[in-house]
Amino acid sequence: MSKMVESAKALMPKLVEIRRDFHEYPEVSQHEAETSKKVAAYLREMGVDEVIEHVNGYGVIGVIKGAKEGGVVALRADMDALQIQEMNDVEYKSRNDGVMHACGHDNHMTGLLGAAMLLCQNRDEICGTVKLVFQPAEEMSPVGGSRGMLESGYLDDIGAIYGLHVWPDLPHGKVGVKSGPLMAATDHFTITIHGKTAHGAKPNQGIDAVVLGAQFVMAAQTFVSRKVDPLDNAVVTFGIFNAGTRYNIIAGECVLDGTVRTLNEDARDMIEDSMRKLLDAICLQSGATADIVYGRGYPALVNHESDAALIRKTAISLFGEEGVVDVKNPAMPAEDFSFYLREKEGCFVWLGTAKDGETPWPLHNSRFDVDEDILWRGSALLAQTAIDYLNK
Ligand code: NI
Repeated sequence: MSKMVESAKALMPKLVEIRRDFHEYPEVSQHEAETSKKVAAYLREMGVDEVIEHVNGYGVIGVIKGAKEGGVVALRADMDALQIQEMNDVEYKSRNDGVMHACGHDNHMTGLLGAAMLLCQNRDEICGTVKLVFQPAEEMSPVGGSRGMLESGYLDDIGAIYGLHVWPDLPHGKVGVKSGPLMAATDHFTITIHGKTAHGAKPNQGIDAVVLGAQFVMAAQTFVSRKVDPLDNAVVTFGIFNAGTRYNIIAGECVLDGTVRTLNEDARDMIEDSMRKLLDAICLQSGATADIVYGRGYPALVNHESDAALIRKTAISLFGEEGVVDVKNPAMPAEDFSFYLREKEGCFVWLGTAKDGETPWPLHNSRFDVDEDILWRGSALLAQTAIDYLNK
């Protein structure tokens, strides 16, 4: 067993205590006031060299300087919870009504604090500086907290950034690594088609927004099937189709609300452009008018090849070959870590939480929970990755 694994396991009582404290008092995006104070206090208690508070709101950055000269690397954890009433019956159940760490960010913060402890214990092995980035507002698409952390300037000098997410689709404790696209870009569109009402028996006197909306929805089905590269992935979903006021009146207005998920900017641009052109064509042909609000959320999260290789190697050195899963297919949820990877090199990985024989509750579910045995794994992985990156 590596020294790092041994030291990380020894931290477990403390990690469990920290994680339960975060879990009991979750705070939603941009309201992470108490969480932020706790993070800063823990960092000071652990003896990091510098604690920078109030970065982009409630963000906190801890700085650890190694014994030797070298570059700068960042490790990131997100801090916010969700507006969900927890249904788990556990002693550390959320005490904040209607708010829950249902995306596991309590584990991410704990894992990073554990990494801080391990790095402070191993300053001799650190060639350079490690920045521990506690980021608010990950769940607040399309704004997100990562852009503000980048804009703060505190990350200008980093060479790379690494982070992880607990992942119920992977077996417990396994590290899921993938080079290239790992998570999707999420966009939200709202289309309003303005037709003209008329008597239901005289459609020729109106402009039927129901028919035009239906035309739009059906024609949009070919964007992914006919225009996106078959080896690429994308989703266009219409979640809302609202039109009409009465069974015998030609609908004067139709509202379509939906989401687009893509894994690269080409597909993303193409789908937005196709939507606008299709809408123009339908209006031209029918005499209707329309508005489209196309809101771009987080971009696709695309891991850098050399950093994916590095963290994969580090994970194998800690947990063995069997501890690592090479992820084949990206997932369609989004993650604002993607903004860091557009400006800096780095890699985001998944840490499996599915236990043998149990069907895990998904992320964002009122019953989501993890076996805390993953905490030391996250800490060891982050700490060792930082050391290995700076030593390369
Ligand atoms: Ni999350």
